[in-house]
This record gives sequence, C-alpha cells and structure tokens, in this order.
Amino acid sequence: MPMFAENFVEDIKDRVDLYDLISPYVQLKKSGAKWVGLSPFNQEKTPSFYVDSNKGFFHCFSSGEKGDAISFVQKVENLTFPEAVEFLANRFGIPIQYAENSRNGGKPFQKSIKSDLYRVHELAMTWFAERFFENNQESNVAKDYWQNKRKFSLEVAKEFGVGYSPVDRFALGRHLENQKISDLILSKSGLFNEKKQSGKFACRFCGRLMIPIHEKIGRICGFTARELSVTPTWGDKKPPKYINSPETPIFLKGELLFNLHQANKEISENKEFLLVEGQLDAIRCSAEGFKTVVAPQGTAFKESQAMLLRKSNPKGVVCLLDGDDAGQKAAFGYIPTFLSSGLDVRFATLPQGKDPDQILIENGAKGLQEIIDQGVSSIRLCSSI
Ligand code: UTP
Ligand code: MN
Repeated sequence: MPMFAENFVEDIKDRVDLYDLISPYVQLKKSGAKWVGLSPFNQEKTPSFYVDSNKGFFHCFSSGEKGDAISFVQKVENLTFPEAVEFLANRFGIPIQYAENSRNGGKPFQKSIKSDLYRVHELAMTWFAERFFENNQESNVAKDYWQNKRKFSLEVAKEFGVGYSPVDRFALGRHLENQKISDLILSKSGLFNEKKQSGKFACRFCGRLMIPIHEKIGRICGFTARELSVTPTWGDKKPPKYINSPETPIFLKGELLFNLHQANKEISENKEFLLVEGQLDAIRCSAEGFKTVVAPQGTAFKESQAMLLRKSNPKGVVCLLDGDDAGQKAAFGYIPTFLSSGLDVRFATLPQGKDPDQILIENGAKGLQEIIDQGVSSIRLCSSI
C-alpha cells in the first residue's frame, strides 16, 4: 500500500464537495436535499444516480454502485485507490501528505504516470503558445496563417491554447528536460518520435500549428497539429495535413471529443450538441456562438463518444454532414450508434464541398443556423433516399 499520512485520506474526503467532483461528469439536478442525474456507470433514461454532498456519498440505483469521492473517481477514471487519492488532491489543490516511513514494509508510493503525462502536456501547451506569440520569422508564419489565411483572432488563439511547434525538432525536448521531466515520461508522452535521433528526443510535430485537445474535465491529453508553409517535408513525401497525438495512457481517441469540456458548460436538456468533423470547424463554431459544438478526433464517431454526450443529458445532437455521398453514407453509419446510446439525433446537410468553417466565414452565424434548422431526424433521412 502507498503511504499517505495518517488521516490524510479522511481529510481529503472531508474537503472534497461531491457536487463539485461529480458535476463535470453528470448533469445534476436538485432533488430535495440531494442531487440526481443519469448514471455515469450505466445506460439509463430515467435518472437514478443520487448524490448527497452533505454526507459525501453517492448511490446509483440502476447499477447498485455506491460510495464516496474516492470510489467515484476510481470507477469513473479507472484508477487504483492511491491514484484516485492523488487525482482528488491534484484536482482540488490539496497538498498530498505522505507518511514519513513505511510502517508495514510496503513499497514506497509510486506516483501514477497519468498525472505526469497531464503535466507534461500542460507544459508543452504553454511552451507552444509562447512560441506562437513571440515575434520571429517562423512564429510570424503561424500567426499570419491563423489571422490572415484562416481569419481567426488572437483572442480565439488564446482561448483555445493554440500554439506553434518550431521546425527545430529538438527544441521541445530541451525545454522539457530543463523542466526536469524524466525520460520515461517524455517517451510515453506521445509528443516525440518513438526512436530518438542522435540520442535526443525529436518532436513529432515540427513547424506546425498546435491545437491542444482536452479530456472531459478539461485536462490537456493530446494535440492535433496542422501543416503550415514552414512544415518540413518528409523526404520526397508530402507531409500529412494533420498529425495527431498517438494513443497514450491519457489519449484514448474513442473516449474523447474535441471541445466537450467547454460544450458541457453550455449544454442543458433544452439544447443540442452540434457535431462537426474537424477541430478547426469546432473552434470556428464556438467563436461564432455555437458553444455546444464538439468534434471526434479525425476518426469515425464511436458509441463510446455518443455515451459521453448522453451523460450530459442534452436535448439531442445535430450532426453536420458533408454534402457529398460520403457524408450521407457516414450518416447511415451513425444512426445505430445514436440509437443504441438513446440520443435524439438530427442530420443537417452542408452544401457540397463546404465545411462549417467556410459557411461561417461566407454566410455568418445566420447562414449556419439556417442549415441547422433544416436538420432532419434519422427516420426522415432514411426515407429521403
Ligand atoms: P479535412 O481535410 O476535411 O480538414 O479533414 P479540415 O478540418 O477542413 O481542415 P482545414 O480546414 O483544411 O484545416 C477533416 C478532419 O479529418 C482529420 C482532422 O481531424 C480534420 O479536421 N484529418 C484530416 C486528420 O486527422 N489527418 C489528416 O491528414 C487530415
Ligand atoms: Mn476546413
């Protein structure tokens, strides 16, 4: 067992308000002295998940799960007991107290790798953002692309933590090593190529615009990186337009939706999520006032992602589809995913060859709203063919 100081675990339970802990995962409503919402552990349509913040206790009647702050975190984040204690301490800014010596001869407590991976992503995001905002030739290419080619403001760049990763592939590794990040964490972070070059960590995303990806409670878990005119070529091969973080212990593509942590702040049972394809589409939608926008990570929309949306108890989801045949086909693929998650879905079709970003630039929020308003249910979509 890890060795937390005596009473530390009890202390942490006293200090964490269960409502604050649980509300990013479950839309909670007042029910007498308690809170109630849809079970985060089970698929259900009638809320049976009760939270008693005064007693620090939750009870899920559909699955029979019950417990306190620590067992909630263990279940929902899939952590061990010491990892869950550490998670709570980090989340609520409570300094961890360890016992001075092992009394029972146990192994010294190993900090979980996940919290180090989140930290390294936070450091990388800050560093990329500094590179973006500094004034030199390379950084100015990135800013010029953002502001002039893409017509985004610097405020939006700040809001989304947009950055720039320099062409010098060793620069990020040097910075993180100076911050005393271990080789183990660097190699597991997904920020670097698997093979070291000349014994050094080489960044995976060189000469690219960096967009951080957050998990559902807002921690940075990965990046997507867009090609720019300064992006180095790959021998004679054209570099891909986007490079995404690979799967790591904290970046599980099927369990993430871009912008979900922000969209969840706005969602309610009267509002629909807006599902778009690309991250920059999502940033544009949000900047133009469509705050409940989310996007999958360049992969097909999965049932696990539908469940993430379901847990926020929205009115439903509007899917924005490409106007070509591939877009319509994708919609048919989505229908069973939405049906089995119990989400109401509508499909709105974009004009041929346009994405939401272009619609908003060309026709403004009103133009996109008109398209959304014309969205049809799955049944109408099927019968239209
Ligand atoms: P698109 O090629 O339609 O790009 O790919 P986009 O979103 O309109 O990007 P911009 O506007 O040209 O910058 C749609 C999505 O597919 C994923 C990305 O998530 C992208 O947003 N994608 C695309 C990749 O993961 N890798 C690629 O090389 C290309
Ligand atoms: Mn686009």
